[in-house]
Amino acid sequence: MELFNVYPVTPINIVKALGSTVWDEQGTEYLDLYGGHAVISIGHTHPHYVKSLTEQLNKIGFYSNSVLIPIQQQLAKQLGEVSGKADYTLFLCNSGAEANENALKLASFHTGRKKIIAFSKAFHGRTSLAVAATDNPSIVAPVNETDNVIFLPFNDEEALEKAFKEYAEEIAAVIIEGVQGVGGIREASIPFLKLIRSLCDQYGSVFIADSVQCGYGRTGSFYSHDYSGVEADIYSMAKGMGNGFPIGGIAISPKFKASFGLLGTTFGGNHLACAAAVSVLDIIKQDNLMENAAKVGNYLIQELNKFDQVLEVRGRGLMIGIELPTELAHVKKDLLLKNKIFTGEAKPNVIRLLPALNITQKIADQFLTAFEERLKA
Ligand SMILES: Cc1ncc(COP(=O)(O)O)c(C=O)c1O
Repeated sequence: MELFNVYPVTPINIVKALGSTVWDEQGTEYLDLYGGHAVISIGHTHPHYVKSLTEQLNKIGFYSNSVLIPIQQQLAKQLGEVSGKADYTLFLCNSGAEANENALKLASFHTGRKKIIAFSKAFHGRTSLAVAATDNPSIVAPVNETDNVIFLPFNDEEALEKAFKEYAEEIAAVIIEGVQGVGGIREASIPFLKLIRSLCDQYGSVFIADSVQCGYGRTGSFYSHDYSGVEADIYSMAKGMGNGFPIGGIAISPKFKASFGLLGTTFGGNHLACAAAVSVLDIIKQDNLMENAAKVGNYLIQELNKFDQVLEVRGRGLMIGIELPTELAHVKKDLLLKNKIFTGEAKPNVIRLLPALNITQKIADQFLTAFEERLKA
């Protein structure tokens, strides 16, 4: 049997990894500033993570949500503390799309309404409603098409006010990434997030903060939306949560009422996934990784802004987009092939840096030197 060929892959077989270093099968060493797409939060094969998962697996890996799973409560408690939202409740699932799907469903259950507001260049995942709220027609199947999602220009306050006036009590939710990832590292403005909060309050709609990529400490605060000083009603999360072990979740404000059967999943919240997530939170707290993300991220942004050829540097903390002119579109590929550095991209010419939250200034400097070399070449 062959694989269903949906990924344009880089022909490198990574067989070993430690921290922000990975090795291929020939033993060639690479610097990983991509983190497997913002997933590696505490570094590859972190000793505490490996130990926690191994110990848990030797006890029990999985049982369904039909029995008590105390490590779920432990995870919820630690997440509440680290994120500063101890009064929210947690529903666990397996991926970012699933987190958003559940967030949107919950908003609709809660309000009894159907309309969702999403924004240009948004990416919320590939399940039915998440993909319908994603601004990329090429990945929306006919069966996912719906009139219930209204797309508005990103950061356009006037358009948002107009849409609320027009659809008013039909609007179940507004969903927005604090920093758009796939969309090219674009930050939601603080006034825009504040306006979403006040319009959702005024019209009884639900504010969903998609934190799947920009959350979990990556921007220097736990949720990137925190910079606006307003709270969302639901935060969706996934990528960095399990440092590579599949786990997602939604943090739900106390205004929502749970009832048996409202949401559900077979695998979500299993012992092994929770052990992974707990060990990630242990390290985020113990090693002050949010502070580190802010510090090293600010340094990178400041230094990257000094290169004349760079059109724009966007982002916050360790979620950075470097916009290059078309003639430098080869730089990302050259960084990998010539300097052995993995980075991410956003179309057409944005290099995305999404490294582990514990990268050092030395690693940042290593990247900056390589980047300068590539620009000069
Ligand atoms: C902002 C955002 N939301 C949702 C998703 C979907 O997450 P997953 O691929 O885990 O379903 C992604 C994935 O890239 C994302 O960047």
